[in-house]
Amino acid sequence: MNLLIDVNVVIDICTQRKPHAEPSAIALEIAKLNHVRLWLYAGSTQTLEYNLYRHLRQENLEAGRPLTNAAVLANARRLLSEFVKDKQWLAALAAEGPVFDTQDPEDAQLIRAIERFPLGHIRLLTRDERLLTEYPDQTISPDAYCKLGQPDQRLDFIDLKTQQDAIRPALEQQIHRVLHHGHYILGPEVRELEARLAAYTGARHCITVASGTEALLISLMALGIGPGDEVITTPFTFVATAEVICLVGATPVFVDIEPDTCNLDARLIEAKLSPRTKAIMPVSLYGQPADLDAINAIAARHGLPVIEDAAQSFGATYKGRQSGNLSTLGCTSFFPSKPLGCYGDGGAIFTSDDALAQACREIRVHGQSQRYVHTRIGVGGRMDTLQCAIVLAKLDRFDHEIAQRQTVARRYHALLAPQEASRAKPPSRQADPPTQNSLCALAPLRETFQLLPWPQPDRTSVFAQYTLRVPDRAALQARLHAAGIPTAVHYPVPLNEQPAYAHLCCPDCTPVARQMAREVMSLPMHPDLSAADQDRIVTAITAVPI
Ligand SMILES: Cc1ncc(COP(=O)(O)O)c(C=O)c1O
Repeated sequence: MNLLIDVNVVIDICTQRKPHAEPSAIALEIAKLNHVRLWLYAGSTQTLEYNLYRHLRQENLEAGRPLTNAAVLANARRLLSEFVKDKQWLAALAAEGPVFDTQDPEDAQLIRAIERFPLGHIRLLTRDERLLTEYPDQTISPDAYCKLGQPDQRLDFIDLKTQQDAIRPALEQQIHRVLHHGHYILGPEVRELEARLAAYTGARHCITVASGTEALLISLMALGIGPGDEVITTPFTFVATAEVICLVGATPVFVDIEPDTCNLDARLIEAKLSPRTKAIMPVSLYGQPADLDAINAIAARHGLPVIEDAAQSFGATYKGRQSGNLSTLGCTSFFPSKPLGCYGDGGAIFTSDDALAQACREIRVHGQSQRYVHTRIGVGGRMDTLQCAIVLAKLDRFDHEIAQRQTVARRYHALLAPQEASRAKPPSRQADPPTQNSLCALAPLRETFQLLPWPQPDRTSVFAQYTLRVPDRAALQARLHAAGIPTAVHYPVPLNEQPAYAHLCCPDCTPVARQMAREVMSLPMHPDLSAADQDRIVTAITAVPI
């Protein structure tokens, strides 16, 4: 929910004008407690300043105070600077300019600004009787607002709005810069983002592409993988990972996952290699890198390239190195809900191999090596300039957000650990490959829930997801839903049990993936999740008998 604060309400509060100041101040306090976003219209700054100045000057005259006009103006600006500190600025758009043929241009601007939001998502907090009568659904008086009941207290699974609040000025500048220079395809922001991301990961090259899926597809094409080839991968991932292997005409060969990280189990890879194997594609699931040293060592022994699917782990580290730059090629996604997301589709490929980088650059523009010279088969796979500009605006806050995600995860862990089901720990990663005996540790849980182990000591996670194992998942999900807490399942069905892939590998061949798919459940996770909301989630989980 959002409130746009009209000038009269701001003046009431700043001047403590009786009797209006008190209900207005209370209305704003209630709104803040309910996490309502408070907006001021950027087109009203001069009106705010002029009206407050006029009011203060009148007050001084009436009180016989000998203040100069400059001192009164300085006072007005000080009060306004203080008032706007915790508010959002709603940009004035071009459509709100031509209002001089309306009865009240200022009011018309505010109503047009409100009409940008979906109906019912924002109201103008005002004392203006005409507006209140003419636009009853878009406006509300401070008195009426104080009498409203509790708003809907549903939590977001991922809150992108608070992030947007934090970066709004940079975001709007970036977007408008692109609108004004007009290089919508492969514009300067594309090159700037690629340079910054390459530097961030330490890879020599970053090639932005249309999505995470496209990044994986282009990587396979650059490696020349095609019909008759096999690619080793995990069945416990988003479908895109395996889909692109099929799209180039190759076959995904599913290898089971580790029970503690849910990532590809390197110990099981060699048994699945064949003369047709042309690459290994591990996924760094939930934000934690897969065991890339072990996987790279196997790949090196057999002369195979490794493509890390880092769609969920961009920003994480493995032995001090950045995810995305841990193998021959690394691919990430800027899908909006990813740790580093844009406002649409986007992705990137990382590599330090010059020839592969060149191939990826050509493939993303229809295999073109120079204008109208198509050296290879390619795709229309560019990331557009606007989406790159949006990622640039987010990049300055990214390290802070990663630290926040880790704090949130640590807090979930600390609060939930005392309540988790006790039972045998999953087999250690250093041990031999799982046997029927060690897999007993994966027998279905009879109790409430179990935490996935904290990330391995040699790596960090960006916690794209915070995921638990829950035996009676549907029941817990339903109860949390009733308490206004959304959950998600990543992923409910291993790929080798999906109709399109089931012929490739029997479900029993990947028992850990099968078990995890039955039990995993992800909790709300984002950098701006407050301690209070987290407490509410934990209480709802631990108070619920399953
Ligand atoms: C592991 C994994 N791989 C690939 C993708 C595909 O990324 P995109 O949605 O940007 O195509 C995703 C996105 O959900 C993902 O989580």
